[in-house]
Amino acid sequence: MKAKILITGGTGYIGSHTAVELIQAGYEVEILDNLYNSKREVLGRITGITGVEPKFHEVDLRDLAAVRKVLEGGEFQTVMHFAGLKAVGESVEQPLRYYENNVGGTINLLRAMVETGVKQIVFSSSATVYGEQEVAEYDETMTTGMKLSNPYGRTKYMIEEILKDVATSDPEFRATILRYFNPIGAHPSGLLGEDPNDKPNNLMPIVMKVAAGEIPELSVYGNDYPTEDGTCVRDYIHVVDLAKGHIAAMEKMGGEQIQIYNLGSGRGTSVLEMVRAFSEASGRALPYKIAGRRAGDLPEFYANPGKAERELGWKTELTVADAMNDTLNYLRKSCGVEI
Ligand code: NAD
Ligand code: UD1
Repeated sequence: MKAKILITGGTGYIGSHTAVELIQAGYEVEILDNLYNSKREVLGRITGITGVEPKFHEVDLRDLAAVRKVLEGGEFQTVMHFAGLKAVGESVEQPLRYYENNVGGTINLLRAMVETGVKQIVFSSSATVYGEQEVAEYDETMTTGMKLSNPYGRTKYMIEEILKDVATSDPEFRATILRYFNPIGAHPSGLLGEDPNDKPNNLMPIVMKVAAGEIPELSVYGNDYPTEDGTCVRDYIHVVDLAKGHIAAMEKMGGEQIQIYNLGSGRGTSVLEMVRAFSEASGRALPYKIAGRRAGDLPEFYANPGKAERELGWKTELTVADAMNDTLNYLRKSCGVEI
């Protein structure tokens, strides 16, 4: 058995897929989550795929004493920190809740790590920290924190800066910051996928609701952008590729105290191309209408994923078509959708 890893937010969408990859790579995994945006049954799904049931702590990161108790005696080598709130619109309406949960929760986690001598953290950041810039391709050398359009993005930026300060205070502390582009797809088993308790905001969860008949049609937010078909272009990354990127990054820790990597494919796909890809995978046209632009959307946004490839030997292997097939499989197998 390799080292023991604590996954905060491990019953959530990306955390659960990463738990599976970690267990399959021979790591021992424990999960901490308050189940705000995920379900306990995910634990059984992880067991169903891997044959291993991870130890689970139903704990809220805002509860410092409870977090400390999990870390004490846990002998964790690394914490993978996924737990957080992620709804952009909600963060505009309830900024203090986002700062309290995401920034406050991370401070508690770091405090407990410092107190218990756990020195390594891999953090779920977002490409949103780059804000609005004059280019479409984003690399890790670019400035962050400028022109961020919402509090959610600012929590990610602030946490990145806090991690740098903690590293300065302790030469043994290591943090790897992973800036995700747009995670999509599901586990190929059909047992894990994105199943938010919350109202969906992102493209794929809405596409899934349209496919399930819960929403009549997708509103495509704007077709008058300066892109090939007029709709916004994003860098969609299969969640299994993303999960594997975490392991590659963790296994390279130990050198520079702060490491930062984009996790994306480097390829842009428009909203209409996404609609087409889903329709092709399902064999049925996905209903959509063209709606007005959504405030804060950038026309085109994709990763330069070269640093992760050079330094971690990691790059995406799965395509948007794979993600659509896996999403459909998940809808059929785990959500009871007949499509
Ligand atoms: P998710 O909501 O599915 O998972 C997050 C998990 O954290 C949930 O299970 C939730 O219950 C838990 N959680 C939230 N606040 C908590 C708290 N105070 N204490 C304990 N648990 C708490 O989200 P996800 O899509 O899996 O995202 C994981 C991380 O990746 C988040 O930090 C998110 O901001 C980041 N991220 C996600 C995306 C994306 O598009 N999904 C993109 C960039 C970054
Ligand atoms: C959004 C957030 C970003 C966050 C990321 C992951 C905004 C402005 N940005 O990114 O900060 O890090 O989610 O949580 O909210 N679309 C439609 N119709 C829909 C939904 C989406 O056309 O009903 C389009 C959007 O205009 C966008 C693309 O689909 O072009 C992807 O949208 P989404 O999944 O929300 O991700 P981002 O906007 O890239």
